[in-house]
Amino acid sequence: MDGGDVTYAFGINPAGYLESIYWGGRLQDGDPLGPIPALRDHSSVDMAASIAPQEFPGQGAGTFAEPTLKLAYPDGVRDVVLKYVSHKIAGDTITIALRDVSRPVDVTLRYEIDPETGIVGRSATIANNGKGWVRIDQAESASYTLPVGSDYRLHYLTGRWAAEWTLQQRPVTEGATVIESRRGSTGHQNNPWFAIDRTAVSTEESGPVWFGALAWSGSWRISVDKDQIGKVRIVGGYNPYDFAYRLQPGEKLETPVFYAGYSSRGMGGASRLMHRFQRDEILPGNGKPKIRPVLYNSWEATEFAVDEAGQMALAEKAARIGVERFVMDDGWFGARNSDKAGLGDWTVNRTKFPNGLKPLIDKVKSLGMEFGLWVEPEMVNPDSDLYRAHPDWVINFPTRPRSEGRNQLVLNLARKDVRDHLLKVLDDLVSANDIRFLKWDHNRNWSEPGWPEVAPEDQQKLYVEYVRNLYWILAELRRRHPGLEIESCSGGGGRVDLGIMALTDQVWPSDNTDPFDRLTMQDGFSHAYAPAVMMAWVTDSPNWVNKRETSLEYRFLSAMQGGLGVGANLNHWQDEDYATATRMIAAYKTVRATVQQGDLYRLVSPQQGSEHSATLSVAPDRRQAVLFAFLHSSTKLEPAPAIQLQGLDADRRYRVSRLGGGTLPAGMPVEASGRFWMEQGVDPALRGDFQAIGLLFEAVG
Ligand code: DGJ
Repeated sequence: MDGGDVTYAFGINPAGYLESIYWGGRLQDGDPLGPIPALRDHSSVDMAASIAPQEFPGQGAGTFAEPTLKLAYPDGVRDVVLKYVSHKIAGDTITIALRDVSRPVDVTLRYEIDPETGIVGRSATIANNGKGWVRIDQAESASYTLPVGSDYRLHYLTGRWAAEWTLQQRPVTEGATVIESRRGSTGHQNNPWFAIDRTAVSTEESGPVWFGALAWSGSWRISVDKDQIGKVRIVGGYNPYDFAYRLQPGEKLETPVFYAGYSSRGMGGASRLMHRFQRDEILPGNGKPKIRPVLYNSWEATEFAVDEAGQMALAEKAARIGVERFVMDDGWFGARNSDKAGLGDWTVNRTKFPNGLKPLIDKVKSLGMEFGLWVEPEMVNPDSDLYRAHPDWVINFPTRPRSEGRNQLVLNLARKDVRDHLLKVLDDLVSANDIRFLKWDHNRNWSEPGWPEVAPEDQQKLYVEYVRNLYWILAELRRRHPGLEIESCSGGGGRVDLGIMALTDQVWPSDNTDPFDRLTMQDGFSHAYAPAVMMAWVTDSPNWVNKRETSLEYRFLSAMQGGLGVGANLNHWQDEDYATATRMIAAYKTVRATVQQGDLYRLVSPQQGSEHSATLSVAPDRRQAVLFAFLHSSTKLEPAPAIQLQGLDADRRYRVSRLGGGTLPAGMPVEASGRFWMEQGVDPALRGDFQAIGLLFEAVG
């Protein structure tokens, strides 16, 4: 398969196994990729099937590599050996039929390569065509193989609440590295993304990088291991932890898609491919995702203490500074005065909003803004009318205590009645009110993962059916309300993945809104996901997380690296704050298309305690570029190296100005060639602590 600058080649070996042949830079038609030599045992302990770089290895025939499929039959057989049957090629898609060597289990592998980026999407459908049940104990989406190498380095993202998107690195050696979620949802702890480069040759802007991400918002796993003969295998899909999925005769299970790509242009090139792929192929909008409006969110200002007068006052102030979407967060419904009650009761709290939501929505619209609302549909507080009416609707083991997280339990979306109830509630809410945006939150992970209404042998289907029904609700809601936009939030960034991204327009990366912490988080985030979806709010100083004080301009410049929002308590702002905010929001609107949908270059990394950081976003036509540069703290008159820009048109001339107005740093020329800005670079001349500057480069003529 060829796409973009990539070739992905696989074939059938003489024994009938599907094997990886090549994955890297694009080859020429007719280059000699086959035939695959006959399988040989490496030794008596490493048999042929185990060392062959199989595309979809079953657990059988002496395979000790991470299997993509593990099965168990009623007669106790636990052996899967999958061999090639047939294939079909249709445009950029190949489907391969595999069958077990002795039982009627069929696996259909689907491969699709994106012609623009060369990103491959792989998934598998496992079908039981026999007469008795088959239990799937492990079902992965794909196994990807890298050539033998000794200097591979794995990059991945870890975190916790208020500290998501920490970029990690470790060498790929013998012994698996497993990143996973066992939580029922994507999780804060690990994110389903990886990148592997080569320490000897790869940098931020050059050298090979293989990368990938799972499109799944339930429990998932990616394992990376170097095998006994030096090949690196990356296996990802459903997490086998607590997994079992029984197929009755005629039933099928489809895995999520595991996307993977290759860049010869370093980590920067890899993430630009991912960003482009997400904009063109994943996000709603048929390849043209809408530009993120500037939003205001009430959470940090009021927490649960929302009411009509208070929200109207905030809305008036938000409109003054140029906000386009006003979002009321938690606290507007049921008996929701704290996190102890009300979740599940999605009716307006009449003490806080005596006339319903209409007066507030009308006010917001009269101020020229859209109205958005916070919901957390998958959850219920035991202290709610919904739970009192339907205590059986939650995920639970009936004879066991129900562990609460933030005083809430998880509704069992795998149940059809729960699924239909949630769709109805949301549909009614959006139909009855002019709501253009839902912030869809999800604040805890699973415990006691029981589904008592189905047979014990089928209860673990919860891991799949819950997520499928979540996707179904989101898709159906969007279908019924085509203008509605949705944000994926999960106690911050606990549910960001390519699966949810296909059904939501933006994500909330973290509850940590400290503008300095955000620099490293946004840097980590950008390795995997597009600035087009990365929301960032300007909030109060000192920030609640670290009690750190920063200027309003610094907070704006940090948040302007993504989709801009404001979450500060505007009631505390002075005239000069309004003036700064108005100026910065107006400036953001002139560059946001470039920031959100242009090419991102991470020029100076904020990682590992760096004092400086800088990013550059370049418009697709390269006529506009915007530089965000930050200084953590000045010490000992340390000179800072010039920042060399990237991605400009070398022969074009660019005029520079300061984003948001103000004078240029002393000595900076006003106009020069792209070559000059990329070779000579710029000195942002930052001095002090928590300093920032935005510079706008615009093509002349
Ligand atoms: C967690 C979210 O991440 C916050 O932004 C806020 O919406 C709260 N939940 C509300 O309970």
